[in-house]
Amino acid sequence: MADQAEQLRELMRKKNNSVDNAKKTRVLAISSGKGGVGKTNLSINLALAYAQMGKKVIVMDADLGLANVNVVLGVIPKYNLYHLIRKQKTMREIILNTSYGIQIVAGASGFSQIANLTEDERNNFIFELSELAMADILIIDTGAGVSNNVLSFIAAADDALIVTTPEPTAITDAYGIIKIIATEIDNLNLGLKLVVNRVKSASEGKKVAQRVINIAGQFLNVKVDYLGFIYDDPAVQASVIKQKPFLINDPKGKASICVKHISSRLEHVEYKEGSGITRFLRRLMGRMG
Ligand SMILES: Nc1ncnc2c1ncn2[C@@H]1O[C@H](COP(=O)(O)OP(=O)(O)O)[C@@H](O)[C@H]1O
Ligand SMILES: [Mg+2]
Repeated sequence: MADQAEQLRELMRKKNNSVDNAKKTRVLAISSGKGGVGKTNLSINLALAYAQMGKKVIVMDADLGLANVNVVLGVIPKYNLYHLIRKQKTMREIILNTSYGIQIVAGASGFSQIANLTEDERNNFIFELSELAMADILIIDTGAGVSNNVLSFIAAADDALIVTTPEPTAITDAYGIIKIIATEIDNLNLGLKLVVNRVKSASEGKKVAQRVINIAGQFLNVKVDYLGFIYDDPAVQASVIKQKPFLINDPKGKASICVKHISSRLEHVEYKEGSGITRFLRRLMGRMG
């Protein structure tokens, strides 16, 4: 593994992504226990909030079951992660500029084979991912649940944002994924952060968060931070139907304001030592190799 990490650093140097620069990419994995709780909308609109702060942001759609980042943005990608993984295209060829100032790496619906890649394909995939070190922020929409792919991306990230809604089933499943993260992943630097989506009031968000945080602390001995809430807002669905992010479609709306709060809260968090894409890739390699 040490050899592989060294090999990767060498590759990255050759690609003019110096390790120092690469370190500055902050990797956020957006996950949930239950599907349909708002991961994709948070990924995209958080990316836009970061872009509005002047950051270079890439959203990677790693939900290989229900890839739909491009659908919510209303763009039709020619190539996606499938072509990258199969070595038909490079990262540079599949990465897509959008009119919103963010770039996306489109996912491959129904393609859940990352775990079954050959060693050669896996090394190539990780090498191509190093191309993303050009971003300040890499947001990974991981999909729901606890497949190996999801866990690998979470394990390798700087922060995992777990999304839930106030629905009891979503809360139980959020606890479920936190439990699996806590037992399966030994990334001590991983920042576990909870976002409560679709709340009716700030106090509802706080109540839900406190419940999850208390149980996680009590039964799993893991620290989960409450990152914030997003109001239930009809503008979200309306924007999805228009295939335009709500931060653009309704910038002063309730959901947009909440996402902007979340991005500024994330920015005020101090960066940890040794974070970023280099560590991300090393960890990803460690889990997948
Ligand atoms: N804050 C919100 N207010 C109202 N509806 C929401 C909100 N967040 C998500 N939704 C609804 O939930 C649907 C699923 O959201 P999505 O981001 O695709 O979830 P996931 O990626 O977790 O499956 C959206 O299409 C929208 O209709
Ligand atoms: Mg989604």
